[in-house]
Amino acid sequence: MKHSKIDFKDVQGLVRYGYGRLPESCFLLLEIISPRAARDWLKTLDVADAEELSTPPDFALQVAFTHSGLRKIGLSSEIADQFSQEFKTGIYEESRSKRLGDVGENAPREWQWGGDSDNTPHLMLMLYSVKGGLEARKNATVDGLSSAGLALRGCLTSADFGGVEPFGFKDGISQPTVDWDGKRKLDGRDELEYGNLVALGEFLLGHRNEYGKYTDRPLLDLANDPRGILAEAEDKPGKKDFAFNGTYLVFRQLQQHVGRFWKFLDDQVGGDRSERQRLAELMVGRKMGGEALAVKSSSPIPGIDSDKRDANQFTFSSDPDGTRCPFGAHVRRANPRNADLPDGTRGLLSKLIRTLGFGGKGFRGDLISSVRFHRILRRGVEYGEPLPVNDAIKNGGNEIGERGLHFICLNANISRQFEFIQGAWLSSTKFDGMTEESDPIIGNREAVSECPFTNSFSIPQEAGLRRRISGIPAFITVRGGSYFFLPGIRALRYLSSLETD
Ligand code: HEM
Repeated sequence: MKHSKIDFKDVQGLVRYGYGRLPESCFLLLEIISPRAARDWLKTLDVADAEELSTPPDFALQVAFTHSGLRKIGLSSEIADQFSQEFKTGIYEESRSKRLGDVGENAPREWQWGGDSDNTPHLMLMLYSVKGGLEARKNATVDGLSSAGLALRGCLTSADFGGVEPFGFKDGISQPTVDWDGKRKLDGRDELEYGNLVALGEFLLGHRNEYGKYTDRPLLDLANDPRGILAEAEDKPGKKDFAFNGTYLVFRQLQQHVGRFWKFLDDQVGGDRSERQRLAELMVGRKMGGEALAVKSSSPIPGIDSDKRDANQFTFSSDPDGTRCPFGAHVRRANPRNADLPDGTRGLLSKLIRTLGFGGKGFRGDLISSVRFHRILRRGVEYGEPLPVNDAIKNGGNEIGERGLHFICLNANISRQFEFIQGAWLSSTKFDGMTEESDPIIGNREAVSECPFTNSFSIPQEAGLRRRISGIPAFITVRGGSYFFLPGIRALRYLSSLETD
């Protein structure tokens, strides 16, 4: 079946834009008290879509619901039950917490919000504004909440760190390129090499994904959409698609212990400034200014925009021993940029040799699966006051105030995309054949079964022997989080038109 051309007017803007031009933002966590009033309010809400405007907007509003929120506003259980299991059970479910590393100090019971069904919001309003404009917009929105049948349960205010995350690294560099126009063939044949152009269905429900299939989602009989608001399902004629042009939004409030981070690194290198920075960069896998540590590949990577080439135009095949970018570095875990077959795929003969298992085994052979099934669109923003490196060290690693990342990512399949990256790659103690390690930036350092230590980081050396850093403390604490659904604009209209008690 052919892709229909995307209707940007039906997609919330955040899917297409990171709203970098609207650097002030806050997220209102809301409870629905009166579903009827909330539906009327939703009718009047001016939610920004993804259509390109001739003059960029000075404000954008987005709205996302938790599963309990969709039920509360009136979506029938028959429809809501068809959402994915992880969205229905929530981020705080016990076995999920273990897989995500949300244990010990990061356990959901310790969270400020989202840690159980009682402190999980029904919906989240996301406000983005130009400089100086947020406060007034926020106040006006908050003032109108009670007449809208809503109660404010929390307000997460972000801060503009100027494109740098609180440890001081340039952020938001590597993103998949969404295949809005359906250029990808999705027949599996052109997908043995790493590419950055990713099927629309990986980020928007109701479209074909990297398997060439449609992700399961709530479909309705025509009778359940008497006003004809929803689109017909592309793959199931005769059914209406509630989730069409919507996506799952994962939100995690991650406190960053900036003082602890820089003090630990400083102690490791005996106070040598440039060595300290070098060690931090090895842990991230990029220089603080964003340059990738792995060597740039000379051949173009499909789907990487030319202006991002310098920063993103590489795979790790040019660094097979991890001597430039360690195997355990954050970006190498988060996106190993591997091909399906070990040691590259060029040439039919060499492909056959490797498929039959006669080729030399390189690092890529250990990877679990092709990376194209595990990409996310990152839309996070920082919060708190910046803490410069020197101040962080001067204070002996002690910090005043809280700072960190409102980590936000969008994906059509939470378990295969976000949870896989977080659980199988970032948190894994056996990633790429390593032992006693987890992600050097976000690892929780908690013991896991058969691995009492997870607090090391090894740095392969050209001379052969690895350098190993041990006793790394946790640099991140999870403070809150939830799984949301960011509906398409039509689905929002459908929700606001429901007539139930
Ligand atoms: C406070 C926590 C975190 C910090 C400080 C952090 C920092 C960074 C930095 C500095 C980069 C490189 C710049 C870029 O490509 O944008 C990066 C890349 C990335 N991070 Fe994180 N990150 C954090 C949490 C996470 C989490 C929780 C995930 C996913 C579960 C994640 C997934 C990624 C991905 C997918 C990339 C891009 C890798 C690539 O394609 O090369 N990060 N992060």
